[in-house]
Amino acid sequence: MPPGRSPVAVLRRRRALLPLVLLLPLVLLILILIFPPHSVPALVNVVPGLQTCDYSSGEWVPDASAESHLRYDHTCKEIFKGWNCVGNGKRNGRALLRWRWKPAGCELLPRLDPLLFLQRHRNTNIGFVGDSLNRNMFVSLVCMLRGVTGEVRKWRPAGADRGFTFLRYNLTLSYHRTNLLVRYGRWSASSNGGPLESLGFKQGYRVDVDIPDQTWAEAPSFHDVLIFNTGHWWLAPSKFDPIQSPMLFFEKGTPIIPPLLPPAGLDLALKHMITFVNKAMRPNGVKFFRTQSPRHFEGGDWDDGGSCQRDQPMSSEEVEELFSLENNGTNAEVRLVNQHLLKALEQSTFRVLNVTHMSEFRADAHPSTTGGKKHDDCMHWCLPGPTDTWNDLLATNLAAIES
Ligand SMILES: *[C@@H]1O[C@H](CO)[C@@H](O)[C@H](O)[C@H]1NC(C)=O
Ligand SMILES: *[C@@H]1O[C@H](CO)[C@@H](O)[C@H](O)[C@H]1NC(C)=O
Ligand SMILES: *[C@@H]1O[C@H](CO)[C@@H](O)[C@H](O)[C@H]1NC(C)=O
Repeated sequence: MPPGRSPVAVLRRRRALLPLVLLLPLVLLILILIFPPHSVPALVNVVPGLQTCDYSSGEWVPDASAESHLRYDHTCKEIFKGWNCVGNGKRNGRALLRWRWKPAGCELLPRLDPLLFLQRHRNTNIGFVGDSLNRNMFVSLVCMLRGVTGEVRKWRPAGADRGFTFLRYNLTLSYHRTNLLVRYGRWSASSNGGPLESLGFKQGYRVDVDIPDQTWAEAPSFHDVLIFNTGHWWLAPSKFDPIQSPMLFFEKGTPIIPPLLPPAGLDLALKHMITFVNKAMRPNGVKFFRTQSPRHFEGGDWDDGGSCQRDQPMSSEEVEELFSLENNGTNAEVRLVNQHLLKALEQSTFRVLNVTHMSEFRADAHPSTTGGKKHDDCMHWCLPGPTDTWNDLLATNLAAIES
């Protein structure tokens, strides 16, 4: 848990907000009187058009037919070995596909229709920009579309790690690998001294909060649709140890003094990257930011014997227990990162793909012991699996924008 944003502080702030909260209904009433409901702008989570459905909250309902009609199977070559739960013989590798997402008070989230998707997005470039969880989502979409058309060209558009063009439709999908969105690299103290050296820093990582990683800097001018994510690497002490290898933030090429902690660095990086994308994106480009993907380590963290052995989605009570900030558990960073995303995105023109809560239930859908690592993989998702549903949400959003 990074300092500066402790649950206690959050609670204290809530208490300070109490008088405001009491006034809120009155303010709302006045607003409704001044601006009748139809003139109130739609919330980002709500897809206009179809129905006013908030897809971010709801429940998973069983659908036995889903299991027998696989959207793609373990033979899709693009599936990274450790994520191939059916191929690796995970006990519930198929059973985990039996669930459909039902938003509260609405119909089931429609499934992406691969043929319709290809037809609708002819001559379109769609890029996923982010860490391995966005690669997981990219692979899901590639496999769904390859199920209906095999003619592809594999290449690396605009600095991408990997990409495919579906030739008959001239639709290109690519994945741009970047852990922090911004550029970073090893840093060590210079013998000539400097502001960080004089504070006693010997080594760490230089993180330039205002420079996009070169793996995706060209992506906004190439793609028509972009899906961003970041989060897992920011609050992971195993990658950026606060003592051994701290993140040292730079802006305009010089160290930020006094040094910032990672949560404040994240805020600054998001601010700069949102500005960068707004300037660099091609006209009429569509920008999505995907919210944090939850991890499900129970009984310890990933390096401390934590595991995810469930066969069924969790109940709402179990979800709250595992993820609530008040409990400060192993996976509490999920909602913490989301608070930062929400703050950065609420004033922006990005659309939010809010996959967090639906995914919080899915402790059953990680590779777990079949991930081929020394420890359980309770972070990435089985493919086929829940990231197929993330793509259903993407397709529903795109359809709503176009209609
Ligand atoms: C939250 O838990 C972590 C370890 O799991 C601990 O280091 C930290 O002090 C805790 N924070 C609070 C506010 O309880
Ligand atoms: C394929 O799509 C790209 C991206 O929209 C476009 O620039 C290109 O002209 C298209 N090619 C053909 C042959 O239509
Ligand atoms: C995502 O949806 C959940 C559940 O509705 C909500 O609590 C959370 O604030 C949303 N997060 C963002 C970043 O919009």
